[in-house]
Amino acid sequence: MIPANPICVALDTPDLDRARDLARILKPHVGMVKLGMEFFYAHGRQGYEAVAAEGLPVFLDLKLHDIPNTVASALASLMKLEPKPLMTNVHATGGLDMMKAARDAVDGKSLLLAVTVLTSLSDDDIVSIGFNPGKVTRDHVRSLAELAIEAGFDGVVCSPEDVRAIKSLAGRKLLTVVPGIRPVQVSAGDQKRVSTPEKTLAAGADILVIGRPITRAADPALAARMILDSLQ
Ligand code: C5P
Repeated sequence: MIPANPICVALDTPDLDRARDLARILKPHVGMVKLGMEFFYAHGRQGYEAVAAEGLPVFLDLKLHDIPNTVASALASLMKLEPKPLMTNVHATGGLDMMKAARDAVDGKSLLLAVTVLTSLSDDDIVSIGFNPGKVTRDHVRSLAELAIEAGFDGVVCSPEDVRAIKSLAGRKLLTVVPGIRPVQVSAGDQKRVSTPEKTLAAGADILVIGRPITRAADPALAARMILDSLQ
């Protein structure tokens, strides 16, 4: 079910034509596309279907975070999309009951991922928002991954530096879908916990989520090709 090509390109744009064009030109070089809030809030179901029609599987990255009933109802609506998203997600910090309600609503129609700790947050940020003060981010991620396993999730979204620990905890049971990927020559931007595509794959990541290093390159197809080549 997971494509052999581990690159998932994040089409973070509110421009439907641009998203569709990128999906078309990147199709030979990536395994999947990711549509997030920026795109879905602008174009909804029709925009999703237009991009999906280009033929790549879609990771619908809406990072739901609300009470169990609301998250379950939202996912039930999303599961009416055609084609179904290959993967979708909720925040693990919504808690175990919310994650179980999400799992029941998705009911195997998509792979369900739990977002652990955003790759844009540092240890200091984690403490400043009051999550487990005193616990380092790595431990926090591990606790959230354990909750995801308990809730019967298919995988987690985690940073490159968390992949090894999660794989040793869960092995093949839990997919690791990993943003914060930066080829050495590209700046980190707002991402704080980053690594290269090669190191992240070697650590055991299943899917590499890559946005700006591809979409903002002068030649996105060439940028994706070079990353894919570096992985082989
Ligand atoms: O442009 P860049 O490669 O930083 O894009 C990363 C993508 O991964 C963005 O679409 C962002 O929303 C998403 N993401 C993330 N960190 C997470 C979960 C998702 O950066 N923890």
